Amino acid sequence: MAKKKQATWGGRFSAGPADLMLTFSESVSFDQRLAPFDVAGSKAHAAMLAHVGLITARECKAIRRGLDVILEEISRGKFTWRPELEDVHMNIEQALTERVPAAAKLHTARSRNDQVATDMRLFFKHACDEVDGRLVRAQRALLALAEAAGDTMIPGYTHLQRAQPVQVAHHLAAYLEMLERDRTRFAAVADSANWCPLGAGALAGSTLPIDREFTARELGFVDHRGRPRVAQNSMDAVADRDVFIEFAHAAALVGTHLSRLAEDLILWSSSEFNFISLPDAFCTGSSLMPQKKNPDACEILRGKSARLQGNLNTLLTLTKGLPLTYNRDLQDDKPPIFDSFDQTCLSLEVLAGVLTGAKINLVACAEAVADPALLATDLADYLVEAGVPFREAHHVVGAVVKMAEESGTPLDQLPHAEVKKIHPALKADWVEVFDLRRAAARRQGTGMPGPRQVRKQLARWRKRLA
Ligand code: ARG
Repeated sequence: MAKKKQATWGGRFSAGPADLMLTFSESVSFDQRLAPFDVAGSKAHAAMLAHVGLITARECKAIRRGLDVILEEISRGKFTWRPELEDVHMNIEQALTERVPAAAKLHTARSRNDQVATDMRLFFKHACDEVDGRLVRAQRALLALAEAAGDTMIPGYTHLQRAQPVQVAHHLAAYLEMLERDRTRFAAVADSANWCPLGAGALAGSTLPIDREFTARELGFVDHRGRPRVAQNSMDAVADRDVFIEFAHAAALVGTHLSRLAEDLILWSSSEFNFISLPDAFCTGSSLMPQKKNPDACEILRGKSARLQGNLNTLLTLTKGLPLTYNRDLQDDKPPIFDSFDQTCLSLEVLAGVLTGAKINLVACAEAVADPALLATDLADYLVEAGVPFREAHHVVGAVVKMAEESGTPLDQLPHAEVKKIHPALKADWVEVFDLRRAAARRQGTGMPGPRQVRKQLARWRKRLA
């Protein structure tokens, strides 16, 4: 039996789509969240149609009011989404046409191709803003923990081997820098999104006298001086998915940063390190081992980066080799974007919660950083100041380290009488190098972990994040 013909495009068909085809091709189950942007786009388009005389002012008013009512119903959960109408665009247009006869004119000089491109660009501008707010809140939580750490020092690591002493605050502030670059990236994505595709039609614009600049201005696609930003090639306007990839990339990089921080926190909270206690509220227990407290929130954060990278890869692959212009493959560009957005927001909120409840373990940090070997490089610097070339100094200190290891004596407790035999520049004051506070205080250059410098950096962040 022939199915009912499709209401919006069914004119040239003698039968409607199979049920399986409807299930396969509908997108309203996931693109209905574009409703606020779709309504905004339609309202601006109607205003433009009235502005150029393609519809009357009365028709425009009725359309715009009808759209407001529909959006209101949607936000109250009172709107019935119909999968047989495929997507958010046709659901809203159909519902509007049933109520407002003039809405039959709304799709004049418009295609779902420029419509969905516009909806998504409006979505991206909003989403970048939302992510930015959460990046700032995560930064504030990082800053608060860094400030609570005071002058506490820990070993900094390379190759996950103890390397040189650093302030906990300095280590945490490294992530402030990363998240700040993420903010810059999302701002750049919002700027990329800020071009209006509407008026590009299906791919070749329209024969009708539309005013694309008017629509762009209505929707806030303007530059810093208020001049409209209109996509300059109608084919590019409907086929371009660069901003999707840019957004997914920015999100993937946030995921990568959070996965590294999560891993640091997981290590630090293990008994082996014990630098930090994570809040109970973001940990779980074991169903078998009663003593366990597992850093699950951090592990999930670490894992999320895989998903965010996957979404980026999905979009790159989806777009690769697609001929111009719109192809239905592109409908599947939305789930990875919404997922990246949701998971990035959620991850940043969880991170802020974890950091806010975390406590630095002062005693364990002090014990770990007391290892004098962490200051072996400072001893080489001491020799450099005595005129020894660095390569030679490095070698000399290597011999001192070897002596300490072979005799089972901490580096700073080797007898001077023995040490000075290794090199005459190792004078009686050689051992002062191992005074941790003194060593820290000497690292005052820009970006170094000396206490004055770290305090200065934290003050900069406090001002920036106020
Ligand atoms: N739901 C579609 C999408 O998301 C809208 C555009 C459909 N255009 C078309 N010619 N079938 O891509």
